[in-house]
Amino acid sequence: MNKLKKCNNISDIRKLAKSKLPAPMFHYIDGGSDDEWTLRRNTEAFNDYQLEPNYLRNVSNIDLKTKVLGCELELPFFLSPTGMSRLFNHEKEPAACRAADKFGTLYSLSTLATTSLEDIAAETSGPKMFQIYILKDRELTKEFVQRCKKSRYQALCLTVDTMVAGNRERDLVNGMTMPPKVTSFKNFFSYATSFEWLFNMALNPDFKLANVAHRVDALGNGSMALIDYINSQFDRSVTWEDAAWLAEQWDGPFIIKGIQSPSDAQKAMEIGASGIMISNHGGRQLESAPAPIDSVAAIRDKVGDKLELIVDGGIRRGTHVIKAIAQGADACSIGRGYLFGLAAGGQAGVERCLSILKSEIERSMTLLGVSKISDINSSHISRLAKLPGNYPT
Ligand code: GLV
Repeated sequence: MNKLKKCNNISDIRKLAKSKLPAPMFHYIDGGSDDEWTLRRNTEAFNDYQLEPNYLRNVSNIDLKTKVLGCELELPFFLSPTGMSRLFNHEKEPAACRAADKFGTLYSLSTLATTSLEDIAAETSGPKMFQIYILKDRELTKEFVQRCKKSRYQALCLTVDTMVAGNRERDLVNGMTMPPKVTSFKNFFSYATSFEWLFNMALNPDFKLANVAHRVDALGNGSMALIDYINSQFDRSVTWEDAAWLAEQWDGPFIIKGIQSPSDAQKAMEIGASGIMISNHGGRQLESAPAPIDSVAAIRDKVGDKLELIVDGGIRRGTHVIKAIAQGADACSIGRGYLFGLAAGGQAGVERCLSILKSEIERSMTLLGVSKISDINSSHISRLAKLPGNYPT
Protein backbone atom coordinates (compact mmCIF):
# COMPACT_ATOMS: atom_id res chain seq x y z
CA MET A 1 0.00 0.00 0.00
CA ASN A 2 2.81 2.32 0.98
CA LYS A 3 4.64 1.54 -2.23
CA LEU A 4 1.52 2.42 -4.21
CA LYS A 5 1.28 5.78 -2.47
CA LYS A 6 4.85 6.50 -3.54
CA CYS A 7 3.89 6.02 -7.19
CA ASN A 8 3.56 9.47 -8.73
CA ASN A 9 2.59 8.40 -12.23
CA ILE A 10 1.64 5.42 -14.37
CA SER A 11 5.28 4.75 -15.18
CA ASP A 12 6.02 4.28 -11.44
CA ILE A 13 3.08 1.88 -11.19
CA ARG A 14 4.45 -0.06 -14.15
CA LYS A 15 7.77 -0.42 -12.32
CA LEU A 16 6.00 -1.64 -9.18
CA ALA A 17 4.03 -4.17 -11.26
CA LYS A 18 7.29 -5.37 -12.81
CA SER A 19 8.76 -5.97 -9.36
CA LYS A 20 5.76 -8.09 -8.34
CA LEU A 21 5.04 -10.19 -11.41
CA PRO A 22 6.86 -13.21 -12.80
CA ALA A 23 8.52 -12.19 -16.08
CA PRO A 24 6.06 -14.07 -18.36
CA MET A 25 3.10 -12.20 -16.85
CA PHE A 26 4.76 -8.79 -16.81
CA HIS A 27 5.92 -9.03 -20.40
CA TYR A 28 2.54 -10.36 -21.51
CA ILE A 29 1.01 -7.05 -20.33
CA ASP A 30 3.91 -4.84 -21.33
CA GLY A 31 4.79 -6.27 -24.73
CA GLY A 32 3.61 -5.74 -28.27
CA SER A 33 4.07 -7.38 -31.63
CA ASP A 34 7.19 -7.74 -33.83
CA ASP A 35 9.65 -4.90 -33.14
CA GLU A 36 7.10 -3.04 -30.96
CA TRP A 37 7.26 0.10 -33.08
CA THR A 38 3.49 0.59 -32.87
CA LEU A 39 3.55 -0.12 -29.15
CA ARG A 40 6.11 2.65 -28.58
CA ARG A 41 4.54 4.98 -31.13
CA ASN A 42 1.13 4.82 -29.38
CA THR A 43 2.54 6.81 -26.47
CA GLU A 44 5.30 8.72 -28.26
CA ALA A 45 2.87 10.12 -30.83
CA PHE A 46 1.29 12.26 -28.10
CA ASN A 47 4.57 14.20 -28.03
CA ASP A 48 3.94 15.38 -31.59
CA TYR A 49 1.13 17.57 -30.26
CA GLN A 50 1.25 20.61 -28.00
CA LEU A 51 -1.50 22.10 -25.88
CA GLU A 52 -2.37 25.78 -26.31
CA PRO A 53 -3.60 27.43 -23.10
CA ASN A 54 -5.94 30.39 -22.64
CA TYR A 55 -5.73 32.38 -19.42
CA LEU A 56 -8.05 34.45 -17.19
CA ARG A 57 -10.94 32.06 -17.75
CA ASN A 58 -12.24 31.35 -14.19
CA VAL A 59 -11.23 27.78 -13.70
CA SER A 60 -12.37 27.46 -10.07
CA ASN A 61 -14.49 24.40 -10.80
CA ILE A 62 -13.23 21.63 -13.05
CA ASP A 63 -15.88 19.19 -14.20
CA LEU A 64 -14.73 15.90 -15.77
CA LYS A 65 -18.22 14.55 -16.46
CA THR A 66 -18.45 12.87 -19.85
CA LYS A 67 -21.46 11.41 -21.63
CA VAL A 68 -20.58 8.41 -23.71
CA LEU A 69 -22.04 4.96 -24.49
CA GLY A 70 -25.35 6.10 -23.05
CA CYS A 71 -23.75 6.66 -19.65
CA GLU A 72 -22.94 9.75 -17.64
CA LEU A 73 -19.37 9.11 -16.47
CA GLU A 74 -17.46 11.06 -13.83
CA LEU A 75 -14.27 10.77 -15.89
CA PRO A 76 -13.41 11.28 -19.57
CA PHE A 77 -11.86 7.80 -19.71
CA PHE A 78 -12.86 4.26 -18.83
CA LEU A 79 -11.37 0.78 -18.57
CA SER A 80 -10.72 -1.08 -21.84
CA PRO A 81 -11.48 -4.78 -22.10
CA THR A 82 -8.40 -6.85 -21.22
CA GLY A 83 -8.20 -10.64 -20.93
CA MET A 84 -7.15 -12.99 -18.16
CA SER A 85 -6.77 -10.69 -15.17
CA ARG A 86 -6.23 -13.69 -12.85
CA LEU A 87 -2.73 -14.01 -14.29
CA PHE A 88 -1.80 -10.63 -12.86
CA ASN A 89 -3.54 -10.51 -9.49
CA HIS A 90 -5.75 -12.84 -7.45
CA GLU A 91 -8.34 -10.04 -7.00
CA LYS A 92 -8.77 -10.16 -10.79
CA GLU A 93 -11.66 -8.54 -12.74
CA PRO A 94 -13.98 -7.69 -9.79
CA ALA A 95 -11.21 -5.52 -8.31
CA ALA A 96 -10.96 -3.44 -11.49
CA CYS A 97 -14.73 -3.27 -11.77
CA ARG A 98 -15.11 -2.02 -8.19
CA ALA A 99 -12.38 0.57 -8.71
CA ALA A 100 -14.10 1.84 -11.88
CA ASP A 101 -17.40 2.07 -10.02
CA LYS A 102 -15.80 3.98 -7.16
CA PHE A 103 -14.51 6.56 -9.65
CA GLY A 104 -17.83 6.71 -11.50
CA THR A 105 -16.53 5.27 -14.74
CA LEU A 106 -17.28 2.29 -16.96
CA TYR A 107 -15.70 -1.14 -16.72
CA SER A 108 -15.36 -3.28 -19.86
CA LEU A 109 -15.26 -7.04 -19.46
CA SER A 110 -13.40 -9.13 -22.02
CA THR A 111 -14.79 -12.37 -23.48
CA LEU A 112 -11.45 -13.80 -22.33
CA ALA A 113 -11.93 -12.71 -18.72
CA THR A 114 -11.36 -14.99 -15.77
CA THR A 115 -14.68 -13.87 -14.18
CA SER A 116 -18.06 -14.51 -15.76
CA LEU A 117 -20.12 -11.63 -17.09
CA GLU A 118 -22.85 -12.54 -14.59
CA ASP A 119 -20.44 -12.36 -11.64
CA ILE A 120 -19.22 -8.96 -12.81
CA ALA A 121 -22.81 -7.75 -13.17
CA ALA A 122 -23.42 -8.78 -9.55
CA GLU A 123 -20.32 -6.93 -8.40
CA THR A 124 -21.52 -3.31 -8.73
CA SER A 125 -24.38 -1.38 -10.29
CA GLY A 126 -21.88 0.83 -12.15
CA PRO A 127 -21.88 1.05 -15.97
CA LYS A 128 -20.49 -1.98 -17.81
CA MET A 129 -19.65 -2.96 -21.36
CA PHE A 130 -19.03 -6.48 -22.66
CA GLN A 131 -16.38 -7.08 -25.31
CA ILE A 132 -17.45 -9.66 -27.86
CA TYR A 133 -16.00 -11.46 -30.90
CA ILE A 134 -17.85 -12.86 -33.86
CA LEU A 135 -16.68 -16.41 -33.27
CA LYS A 136 -16.87 -19.38 -35.61
CA ASP A 137 -19.44 -20.67 -33.17
CA ARG A 138 -22.06 -17.99 -33.92
CA GLU A 139 -24.36 -19.60 -31.35
CA LEU A 140 -21.86 -18.68 -28.62
CA THR A 141 -21.74 -15.08 -29.90
CA LYS A 142 -25.55 -14.99 -29.80
CA GLU A 143 -25.53 -16.53 -26.35
CA PHE A 144 -23.27 -13.70 -25.10
CA VAL A 145 -25.71 -11.10 -26.43
CA GLN A 146 -28.59 -12.74 -24.56
CA ARG A 147 -26.56 -13.07 -21.36
CA CYS A 148 -25.51 -9.39 -21.57
CA LYS A 149 -29.11 -8.31 -22.01
CA LYS A 150 -30.18 -10.41 -19.06
CA SER A 151 -27.37 -9.03 -16.90
CA ARG A 152 -28.15 -5.46 -18.00
CA TYR A 153 -24.85 -4.49 -19.61
CA GLN A 154 -25.09 -0.94 -20.96
CA ALA A 155 -23.00 -1.47 -24.07
CA LEU A 156 -21.47 -4.05 -26.37
CA CYS A 157 -18.04 -3.74 -27.97
CA LEU A 158 -17.09 -5.85 -30.99
CA THR A 159 -13.34 -6.45 -31.46
CA VAL A 160 -12.40 -6.76 -35.13
CA ASP A 161 -8.59 -6.86 -35.20
CA THR A 162 -7.83 -10.38 -33.95
CA MET A 163 -8.36 -12.62 -36.98
CA VAL A 164 -5.06 -14.12 -35.92
CA ALA A 165 -2.91 -13.46 -32.85
CA GLY A 166 -0.18 -10.82 -33.20
CA ASN A 167 3.45 -11.97 -33.16
CA ARG A 168 4.37 -11.28 -29.54
CA GLU A 169 7.96 -12.38 -29.26
CA ARG A 170 8.34 -11.46 -25.59
CA ASP A 171 5.83 -14.24 -24.81
CA LEU A 172 8.03 -16.75 -26.62
CA VAL A 173 11.21 -15.55 -24.94
CA ASN A 174 9.68 -15.58 -21.45
CA GLY A 175 7.72 -18.82 -21.76
CA MET A 176 4.27 -17.28 -21.37
CA THR A 177 1.58 -19.96 -21.03
CA MET A 178 -2.03 -19.94 -19.94
CA PRO A 179 -2.40 -21.17 -17.27
CA PRO A 180 1.14 -20.33 -16.08
CA LYS A 181 3.64 -23.21 -16.31
CA VAL A 182 7.33 -23.64 -15.70
CA THR A 183 8.94 -24.00 -19.11
CA SER A 184 12.62 -23.32 -18.38
CA PHE A 185 15.03 -22.71 -15.53
CA LYS A 186 14.83 -18.99 -16.27
CA ASN A 187 11.09 -18.77 -15.85
CA PHE A 188 11.16 -21.19 -12.86
CA PHE A 189 13.44 -18.70 -11.15
CA SER A 190 11.14 -15.85 -12.08
CA TYR A 191 8.05 -17.63 -10.65
CA ALA A 192 9.95 -18.77 -7.57
CA THR A 193 11.07 -15.25 -6.69
CA SER A 194 7.71 -13.52 -7.19
CA PHE A 195 6.72 -14.42 -3.63
CA GLU A 196 3.45 -12.55 -3.21
CA TRP A 197 2.14 -13.58 -6.65
CA LEU A 198 3.20 -17.21 -6.07
CA PHE A 199 1.65 -17.33 -2.60
CA ASN A 200 -1.69 -16.08 -3.94
CA MET A 201 -1.54 -18.43 -6.91
CA ALA A 202 -0.85 -21.40 -4.62
CA LEU A 203 -3.65 -20.36 -2.26
CA ASN A 204 -6.15 -19.91 -5.02
CA PRO A 205 -5.07 -21.47 -8.32
CA ASP A 206 -8.40 -20.78 -10.06
CA PHE A 207 -7.52 -20.02 -13.67
CA LYS A 208 -10.62 -20.24 -15.83
CA LEU A 209 -11.83 -18.40 -18.92
CA ALA A 210 -15.12 -18.11 -17.13
CA ASN A 211 -17.29 -16.92 -20.02
CA VAL A 212 -16.48 -19.75 -22.38
CA ALA A 213 -15.53 -22.61 -20.06
CA HIS A 214 -18.94 -24.25 -20.42
CA ARG A 215 -18.41 -24.62 -24.20
CA VAL A 216 -15.23 -26.58 -23.97
CA ASP A 217 -15.50 -30.33 -23.68
CA ALA A 218 -11.86 -31.07 -23.07
CA LEU A 219 -11.25 -28.91 -20.03
CA GLY A 220 -9.21 -29.61 -16.95
CA ASN A 221 -5.80 -30.95 -15.96
CA GLY A 222 -4.15 -27.56 -16.44
CA SER A 223 -3.94 -28.10 -20.17
CA MET A 224 -4.07 -25.48 -22.91
CA ALA A 225 -7.39 -26.87 -24.12
CA LEU A 226 -9.32 -23.73 -23.30
CA ILE A 227 -6.90 -21.45 -25.07
CA ASP A 228 -6.73 -23.82 -28.02
CA TYR A 229 -10.50 -23.69 -28.17
CA ILE A 230 -10.49 -19.89 -28.21
CA ASN A 231 -7.77 -19.72 -30.85
CA SER A 232 -9.74 -22.15 -32.97
CA GLN A 233 -12.76 -19.86 -32.66
CA PHE A 234 -11.19 -16.79 -34.30
CA ASP A 235 -12.85 -16.52 -37.67
CA ARG A 236 -10.89 -14.97 -40.54
CA SER A 237 -13.93 -14.94 -42.78
CA VAL A 238 -15.85 -12.33 -40.73
CA THR A 239 -17.10 -9.34 -42.80
CA TRP A 240 -19.11 -6.15 -42.36
CA GLU A 241 -22.28 -8.23 -43.02
CA ASP A 242 -21.52 -10.22 -39.87
CA ALA A 243 -20.94 -7.01 -37.92
CA ALA A 244 -24.31 -5.73 -39.16
CA TRP A 245 -25.88 -9.04 -38.07
CA LEU A 246 -24.49 -8.55 -34.56
CA ALA A 247 -25.47 -4.87 -34.37
CA GLU A 248 -29.08 -5.83 -35.17
CA GLN A 249 -29.27 -8.12 -32.16
CA TRP A 250 -28.19 -5.51 -29.65
CA ASP A 251 -30.54 -2.71 -28.57
CA GLY A 252 -28.12 -0.36 -26.78
CA PRO A 253 -24.85 1.39 -27.59
CA PHE A 254 -22.76 -0.78 -29.93
CA ILE A 255 -19.15 0.09 -30.64
CA ILE A 256 -16.50 -1.46 -32.84
CA LYS A 257 -12.98 -1.74 -31.42
CA GLY A 258 -9.95 -1.74 -33.69
CA ILE A 259 -11.09 0.75 -36.34
CA GLN A 260 -8.24 2.93 -37.62
CA SER A 261 -9.36 4.56 -40.87
CA PRO A 262 -12.03 7.08 -41.89
CA SER A 263 -13.45 4.62 -44.44
CA ASP A 264 -13.92 1.86 -41.85
CA ALA A 265 -15.43 4.42 -39.46
CA GLN A 266 -17.92 5.30 -42.20
CA LYS A 267 -18.79 1.61 -42.60
CA ALA A 268 -19.24 1.25 -38.85
CA MET A 269 -21.72 4.11 -39.00
CA GLU A 270 -23.56 2.51 -41.92
CA ILE A 271 -24.08 -0.81 -40.14
CA GLY A 272 -25.58 0.96 -37.13
CA ALA A 273 -22.68 1.22 -34.68
CA SER A 274 -23.04 4.08 -32.22
CA GLY A 275 -19.30 4.47 -31.85
CA ILE A 276 -15.83 3.11 -32.48
CA MET A 277 -12.73 2.56 -30.42
CA ILE A 278 -9.84 3.89 -32.46
CA SER A 279 -7.35 1.25 -31.43
CA ASN A 280 -4.51 -0.93 -32.69
CA HIS A 281 -4.97 -3.34 -29.78
CA GLY A 282 -2.24 -1.63 -27.78
CA GLY A 283 0.37 -2.38 -30.46
CA ARG A 284 -0.23 -6.10 -29.96
CA GLN A 285 -1.64 -6.95 -33.38
CA LEU A 286 -0.63 -5.30 -36.69
CA GLU A 287 2.91 -3.91 -36.37
CA SER A 288 3.32 -0.48 -38.05
CA ALA A 289 -0.35 0.38 -37.54
CA PRO A 290 -0.84 4.11 -36.84
CA ALA A 291 -1.06 5.52 -33.32
CA PRO A 292 -4.73 6.21 -32.41
CA ILE A 293 -4.03 9.88 -31.56
CA ASP A 294 -2.88 10.41 -35.15
CA SER A 295 -6.12 9.04 -36.64
CA VAL A 296 -8.77 10.86 -34.58
CA ALA A 297 -9.01 14.15 -36.47
CA ALA A 298 -9.42 12.57 -39.92
CA ILE A 299 -12.02 10.14 -38.61
CA ARG A 300 -13.93 12.96 -36.88
CA ASP A 301 -13.91 14.93 -40.16
CA LYS A 302 -15.38 11.94 -41.97
CA VAL A 303 -18.15 11.01 -39.52
CA GLY A 304 -19.07 14.38 -38.06
CA ASP A 305 -21.04 13.96 -34.85
CA LYS A 306 -22.73 10.74 -35.97
CA LEU A 307 -20.32 8.38 -34.18
CA GLU A 308 -18.81 8.39 -30.72
CA LEU A 309 -15.03 8.18 -30.93
CA ILE A 310 -13.04 6.53 -28.16
CA VAL A 311 -9.25 6.74 -28.28
CA ASP A 312 -7.59 3.59 -26.91
CA GLY A 313 -3.83 3.20 -26.98
CA GLY A 314 -0.72 4.62 -25.37
CA ILE A 315 -2.41 6.77 -22.72
CA ARG A 316 -0.11 7.24 -19.74
CA ARG A 317 -0.79 10.86 -18.77
CA GLY A 318 -3.77 13.12 -18.19
CA THR A 319 -2.53 15.39 -20.97
CA HIS A 320 -2.84 12.43 -23.38
CA VAL A 321 -6.56 12.25 -22.62
CA ILE A 322 -6.91 16.01 -23.13
CA LYS A 323 -5.03 15.85 -26.44
CA ALA A 324 -7.26 13.03 -27.71
CA ILE A 325 -10.38 15.02 -26.84
CA ALA A 326 -8.95 18.17 -28.43
CA GLN A 327 -8.40 16.15 -31.62
CA GLY A 328 -12.06 15.13 -31.66
CA ALA A 329 -12.47 12.12 -29.34
CA ASP A 330 -15.49 11.87 -27.04
CA ALA A 331 -13.55 9.92 -24.44
CA CYS A 332 -10.54 7.63 -23.99
CA SER A 333 -10.00 4.20 -22.57
CA ILE A 334 -7.02 2.61 -20.88
CA GLY A 335 -5.92 -1.03 -20.80
CA ARG A 336 -2.28 -1.57 -19.81
CA GLY A 337 -2.34 1.48 -17.53
CA TYR A 338 -4.87 -0.07 -15.16
CA LEU A 339 -3.52 -3.62 -15.52
CA PHE A 340 -0.21 -2.39 -14.11
CA GLY A 341 -2.23 -1.06 -11.17
CA LEU A 342 -4.03 -4.38 -10.74
CA ALA A 343 -0.71 -6.24 -10.75
CA ALA A 344 0.87 -3.71 -8.40
CA GLY A 345 -1.86 -3.82 -5.76
CA GLY A 346 -5.24 -5.29 -6.76
CA GLN A 347 -8.17 -2.91 -6.38
CA ALA A 348 -6.03 -0.36 -4.52
CA GLY A 349 -3.60 -0.38 -7.44
CA VAL A 350 -6.31 0.25 -10.02
CA GLU A 351 -7.68 3.04 -7.82
CA ARG A 352 -4.21 4.59 -7.61
CA CYS A 353 -4.02 4.62 -11.44
CA LEU A 354 -7.43 6.21 -11.79
CA SER A 355 -6.68 8.76 -9.12
CA ILE A 356 -3.34 9.74 -10.72
CA LEU A 357 -4.90 10.17 -14.18
CA LYS A 358 -7.89 12.02 -12.74
CA SER A 359 -5.75 14.55 -10.90
CA GLU A 360 -3.45 14.97 -13.90
CA ILE A 361 -6.46 15.76 -16.09
CA GLU A 362 -7.92 18.18 -13.52
CA ARG A 363 -4.64 20.04 -13.10
CA SER A 364 -3.93 20.21 -16.82
CA MET A 365 -7.45 21.44 -17.62
CA THR A 366 -7.02 24.18 -15.01
CA LEU A 367 -3.73 25.24 -16.58
CA LEU A 368 -5.21 25.00 -20.07
CA GLY A 369 -8.06 27.34 -19.10
CA VAL A 370 -11.01 24.95 -19.58
CA SER A 371 -13.57 23.95 -16.97
CA LYS A 372 -15.56 21.28 -18.77
CA ILE A 373 -14.65 18.36 -21.01
CA SER A 374 -17.05 19.64 -23.68
CA ASP A 375 -15.09 22.94 -23.77
CA ILE A 376 -11.90 21.20 -24.96
CA ASN A 377 -11.61 21.64 -28.74
CA SER A 378 -9.22 21.93 -31.66
CA SER A 379 -8.18 25.45 -30.66
CA HIS A 380 -6.37 23.89 -27.68
CA ILE A 381 -4.02 21.73 -29.72
CA SER A 382 -1.52 22.02 -32.54
CA ARG A 383 0.71 19.50 -34.22
CA LEU A 384 4.47 19.91 -34.26
CA ALA A 385 6.39 19.49 -37.47
CA LYS A 386 7.28 15.83 -38.11
CA LEU A 387 10.56 14.87 -36.53
CA PRO A 388 12.97 12.42 -38.15
CA GLY A 389 13.25 9.04 -36.43
CA ASN A 390 9.60 8.69 -35.52
CA TYR A 391 8.64 6.48 -38.41
CA PRO A 392 9.23 2.80 -39.23
CA THR A 393 12.46 2.12 -41.07
C1 GLV B 1 -5.88 -10.03 -25.96
O1 GLV B 1 -6.74 -9.47 -26.56
C2 GLV B 1 -4.50 -9.64 -25.94
O2 GLV B 1 -4.14 -8.65 -26.60
O3 GLV B 1 -3.70 -10.33 -25.29
